[in-house]
Amino acid sequence: MNILLTGASGFIGGHIKKALQAAGHQVKPISRTQGIDFNTMLTPDAWLPHLRGIDAVINSVGIIAETAGQSFENLHYRAPAALFQASAKVGVKRVIQISALGADAKAFAPYQLSKKAADDVLRGLALDWFILRPSLVYGEGGKSSAMFKLMASLPIIPLVGDGKQRIQPVHVSDVVATVMQALSATPAQRTLDVVGAYPLSFIDWLQTMRQRDGKKNALTLPIPFSLILNSAKLMRYLVPMMHPDNLRMLQNGNAASVEPLAEFLGRMPLSVEQAP
Ligand SMILES: NC(=O)c1ccc[n+]([C@@H]2O[C@H](COP(=O)([O-])OP(=O)(O)OC[C@H]3O[C@@H](n4cnc5c(N)ncnc54)[C@H](OP(=O)(O)O)[C@@H]3O)[C@@H](O)[C@H]2O)c1
Repeated sequence: MNILLTGASGFIGGHIKKALQAAGHQVKPISRTQGIDFNTMLTPDAWLPHLRGIDAVINSVGIIAETAGQSFENLHYRAPAALFQASAKVGVKRVIQISALGADAKAFAPYQLSKKAADDVLRGLALDWFILRPSLVYGEGGKSSAMFKLMASLPIIPLVGDGKQRIQPVHVSDVVATVMQALSATPAQRTLDVVGAYPLSFIDWLQTMRQRDGKKNALTLPIPFSLILNSAKLMRYLVPMMHPDNLRMLQNGNAASVEPLAEFLGRMPLSVEQAP
């Protein structure tokens, strides 16, 4: 197939690109690396020239925090919505949207709400679509993976609150496997939560990383949530992931039922112990 892949230069998009090429697909990558900025792609007309001969579209562009010139509104909602509408117009057979866990009726943060807004546009279009909502994705090349690995390596791990937030990290290879299956699976028009084998607490995840490296559990330093929130107002400028909204999303938990994904893949996704 000829596949237009946005965000191909990113962590998840890069892994998807490799898998698509290994399976013999032709990939047309789209992002600023190719000179195409989503901020200039806000209408279906802007996308039409890029969709000639394209059989499927995969959207993997996103940001974890807004910066000057990089808004959730444009990157998560307006440009993807325009891409999806253009895809429907020219008869692209299938669109796969990399959304995010929490982009649902309970969404409260602009990150989730902007993802949901694009997902809702896609759901309303007459083409085959898959909306994949990954939880925290880890694996080679992931920025957050690198940060959590670094945290896990500390002799004393500072924790957001008590560190008991429920998360369900999914290995990038399982995200890729889900995308590959979604390229041809029927019936389409499905929303799937893409999560790891089971939920665990944030601190248990970090301690598991240590155990895998043959290290003993680290001591922990719980930092009251209100204190972290206050320091995040400044820290976010150094570490975008530390935006107060991201901390609130973490505090709210990031887990979902694994059964629909396991049924879709025909196997369980990897657990944090099994993943490479
Ligand atoms: N990583 C996770 O844990 C996770 C979890 C759930 C959902 N997701 C979602 O998965 C998607 C991919 O995430 P990721 O972790 O792979 O992120 P990433 O590594 O930061 O990659 C982001 C991609 O977006 C592109 N991009 C950024 N700004 C752009 C712009 N203005 N115009 C065009 N392209 C732009 C980047 O390419 P250029 O720099 O070349 O423009 C890059 O290819 C995102 O939608 C994210 O919300 C990620």
